[in-house]
Amino acid sequence: MSSKADKVRVAVVFGGRSAEHAISCVSAGSVIAALDPERYDVVRVGIATDGRWVLADPDQRLAITEGELPEVSGGTAVSLVGDPAGRGLAVLEPGSAIGPALTEVDVVFPVLHGAYGEDGTIQGLLEMAGVPYVGSGVFASAASMDKEFTKKLLEANGLPQGDHVVLRDADGAVCADPKLLDDAARERLGLPVFVKPSRAGSSIGITKVTDWADFPEAVATAAAVDEKVIVEASVPGREIECGVLAGRDGGAPEASVPAEIKLRPGTDWYDFAAKYLDDAVDFDVPADLTPEQTRAVQQQARRAFLALDCRGLARVDFFLGTAPDGSDRLVINEVNTMPGFTPISMFPRMWAATGVTYPELVDRLVATAVREGARAPR
Ligand SMILES: Nc1ncnc2c1ncn2[C@@H]1O[C@H](COP(=O)(O)OP(=O)(O)O)[C@@H](O)[C@H]1O
Ligand SMILES: [Mg+2]
Repeated sequence: MSSKADKVRVAVVFGGRSAEHAISCVSAGSVIAALDPERYDVVRVGIATDGRWVLADPDQRLAITEGELPEVSGGTAVSLVGDPAGRGLAVLEPGSAIGPALTEVDVVFPVLHGAYGEDGTIQGLLEMAGVPYVGSGVFASAASMDKEFTKKLLEANGLPQGDHVVLRDADGAVCADPKLLDDAARERLGLPVFVKPSRAGSSIGITKVTDWADFPEAVATAAAVDEKVIVEASVPGREIECGVLAGRDGGAPEASVPAEIKLRPGTDWYDFAAKYLDDAVDFDVPADLTPEQTRAVQQQARRAFLALDCRGLARVDFFLGTAPDGSDRLVINEVNTMPGFTPISMFPRMWAATGVTYPELVDRLVATAVREGARAPR
């Protein structure tokens, strides 16, 4: 048996300031349970909804129990030391200045979704601190979080996108004025359109507009989440997802078997309620696709991962429809750099169906991060 000193110390960071706080806690609970205690020494770091960092109390609940969502509550205040010499976390005792107690960590697993987690912000903090971490870096995280820049980068790499318009004024400044979508653009996009905040998740702030009379309200709803509003033509088709993992030892990225999200009758699109509240969807893992369709999805998923400069892991979401000539039309909807990570989430399920168990997946992600080491330019 290895001694404690031989173990890799992993700080699993969860919770956070985004609307996906609870789901992050649930994901982290599963990740922690999967880390082999013989090899890993786990430090549980919670970020409260107001942004406070704590070493989570031992009784911190990370599962949904009796319908109650978990939330980071108490714990010892802790802070990430920005000076790379600190190598980790400073424990802050109440009432004192930064205390001497330092917890060195070998690697951080930020199991955080959405703003301040999946958008490059915590990644920047970790790079300043010189601590290796799981997943994409600052740029890929920020670019994948922003639907406008995701589309630009994918398009520039020959990965086709559905028609869309970002609301900007004549100077190019972001401006959530519905009149900026002129008649020609309305004609071109056609109805329905999906009106979205450019940087959000969990379908928050998104409206499917089927009548232009409802468009101004949809723009206001999206703008309440993000000042940058994107209007997308509807892309008809099946919703297909594919997991990507960085290659072992720096090799080419690998794609999982794809899965399909099947909306049950009565559910029009994959909105917030369908994602978390209703029993509105079925997951088909693997998706019922032809071998050619599977290959096309996997190839585009790997290309998207590289186009956005992702690291570690990503889930690439597609629409699979039919082109006017009857051939398949595969369009990437979005790329998630820290997809849901509960055992029933799509990403781990797709990898399980590909032959990578949940503990193997977690192990591989941590090992990749440790191997790559701190990212700052040397
Ligand atoms: N252009 C589109 N055409 C058809 N359906 C769409 C389109 N954009 C979004 N949707 C529907 O809305 C859901 C949420 O949109 P998405 O862009 O994935 O937002 P989020 O980042 O919040 O998950 C999708 O899963 C899909 O059901
Ligand atoms: Mg989505």
